[in-house]
Amino acid sequence: MKTIAVLTSGGDAPGMNAAVRAVVRSAIYNGCKVFGVNRGYRGLIDGDLFEMDLSSVGDIIHRGGTVLKSARCLEFKTEEGREKALNVLKVFGIDGLVVVGGDGSFQGAQKLSEMGFPAIGIPGTIDNDLAYTDYTIGFDTALNTVIDAISKIRDTSSSHERVSIIEVMGRHCGDIALYAGLAGGAEVIIIPEAGYNEDEICKKLIQSKNRGKKHSIIMLAEGVGGAQKLADKIKEKTGIESRATILGHIQRGGSPSAFDRIIASQMGAKAVELLLEGKSSRVVGIKNNEIIDVDIHEALAMERKLNTEIYKLVDILSI
Ligand code: ADP
Ligand code: F6P
Repeated sequence: MKTIAVLTSGGDAPGMNAAVRAVVRSAIYNGCKVFGVNRGYRGLIDGDLFEMDLSSVGDIIHRGGTVLKSARCLEFKTEEGREKALNVLKVFGIDGLVVVGGDGSFQGAQKLSEMGFPAIGIPGTIDNDLAYTDYTIGFDTALNTVIDAISKIRDTSSSHERVSIIEVMGRHCGDIALYAGLAGGAEVIIIPEAGYNEDEICKKLIQSKNRGKKHSIIMLAEGVGGAQKLADKIKEKTGIESRATILGHIQRGGSPSAFDRIIASQMGAKAVELLLEGKSSRVVGIKNNEIIDVDIHEALAMERKLNTEIYKLVDILSI
């Protein structure tokens, strides 16, 4: 293993830069050359690669987003697209690739390794939707952004004695809503992994109001239903004034938390270590506070389960 390439793909996540920095510096420390690929798999197909040196990753550990840029590239989902990418990797003399991204990006890495090219995945997504790892890079920062927003919404919500519905990201995974709901003292969590009953929610809101609660916070994961529609329904069924806030892409930005920088640095170094050991088709993660690596097929086949204890705890603590 002499030359390594690194790319960031899919939705960007705070901490991706720290991961890229760790890959570049660990690889150079170990005597390798490193190439950065711009715009994820798009850049791989287009041959948009450039050599990175130690200083190319200076002053980026604290920055959100990704200096390598990210993209969603449909062409890479086709065999022809992947053949083009493989040719580019050969032409540039690349021996192994590190992919920082979510499950879609990992599927791309899996396909590349099936074509015989060594590829290692690092989990970079705010969604925390990968079952094999306790945390993905970016989740902790996004959570803190959401908690900050909840506190602000709580102020105005309580002044006006309203119900606030806060819609957060997560695609098919409710972790941002769930954990931000616990940390932000939400009354109700609505996530794709668990069903919900509108009348039960309305009953809880009325009971809370009658008990003297000034306001209620509902955390809603995207994809379960529209926040505004729910706000209208609650007003109609309970008479309580309700407001919807969709946090959107604010959750994807910002300086990464200490936790995200730390795991990104450890995972970046681990990915390089794996390539140097001649391994391929692995993804790096963190389990019980230890950096681990798992076969990419196994990792993608694992089913993500809802943390029912946390889900129940939110309910108990919000009575
Ligand atoms: P994420 O990695 O955050 O889950 P996406 O699902 O959008 O984001 O995937 C990012 C990119 O990974 C896609 O634009 C595509 O280039 C590549 N990709 C996704 N799924 C596949 C697949 N089944 N085969 C090959 N490449 C894929
Ligand atoms: O996967 C990360 C994520 O931010 C999801 O939470 C969200 O559904 C999606 O990406 C939004 O993607 P886009 O970049 O296309 O707006």
